[in-house]
Amino acid sequence: MKASAPGKVLLLGEHAVVYGYSALAAALGRRVTVEVEEDSKGPAIELLAPATSPTPTSSADLSPIPVPPELLDAASEMAATVGATPLFRARVRSELPLGGGLGSSAALGVALARGFAQLAGRDCPPERAEHLALQLERAFHGAPSGVDPAICARGGVILFRRGEPAQVDRISPRRPLHLVVALTGVARGTRSTVLPLSARRAERPDLYDPMLAFLGELARGGARALERGDFQDLGVRFDAAHGVLAALGVSCPELEQAVAALRSAGALGAKLTGAGGGGAAIGLARDGMHAEGLVRAAEREGLRAFAEEISP
Ligand code: PMV
Repeated sequence: MKASAPGKVLLLGEHAVVYGYSALAAALGRRVTVEVEEDSKGPAIELLAPATSPTPTSSADLSPIPVPPELLDAASEMAATVGATPLFRARVRSELPLGGGLGSSAALGVALARGFAQLAGRDCPPERAEHLALQLERAFHGAPSGVDPAICARGGVILFRRGEPAQVDRISPRRPLHLVVALTGVARGTRSTVLPLSARRAERPDLYDPMLAFLGELARGGARALERGDFQDLGVRFDAAHGVLAALGVSCPELEQAVAALRSAGALGAKLTGAGGGGAAIGLARDGMHAEGLVRAAEREGLRAFAEEISP
């Protein structure tokens, strides 16, 4: 059985979304694909992912990645929940670098949920895939907001707010959004920035809460800007969000370098995306040609980068 799911970028609202504010997320063209079959020697997972390159041209560019025992346990639990055989072998190919803030773990969760459901002869609508992937993400993440599985299961662009149930509004950009994703090459777990920020906030809520609320406001307004096709507006929001995220302590020198490179090459705005502390930065381009120019500028700075078009 073969299934897949897209990676994602958080356009705005990362970290704020953990505290109940809004986040704006978009699915990427790059995907995680899973082939799952019954195997008497299972359960087993084989994982191939790009070491740092986001654009593998052949399978030779993908390296085998050791599978953490928590992942195998969480996948076995998912197979049991779905009613699939516990004796499975899953071959996972990720076009996304792992730990890069591009939603690889959520995309893996959604793709596995779809694969196991097929193996069990069941349907797997987006809400179900999202729910199952969220359980799997908890093995890596601690207390994830749920935005990553929501976008990886649904695709497109969403404005997300956590809750029971989460509020998910689909956003239709008026025209294609051209982004550049620049990878710092620094892999980190999401917990490594989420938990320390949570401790800092617990100590000084009066200092941190208004900043988190502002990030949520930037995301809500960013959704409206996308619907109007107002990329100047969105670019200013990217820059503002990055400044606040840096003040919250979730940036790092490599991300600052990536953001500066994208801005000095003429990005309409640039920011870290996802949990920070490494991972990736995004820059907003005027159009596809401009995006290619930004990719070359980031590469001249020694960064791996790729362009993404997010279509209405
Ligand atoms: O999965 P990442 O690394 O893109 O981070 C998710 C975004 C956070 O808001 C930092 C965490 C969360 O649970 O929403």
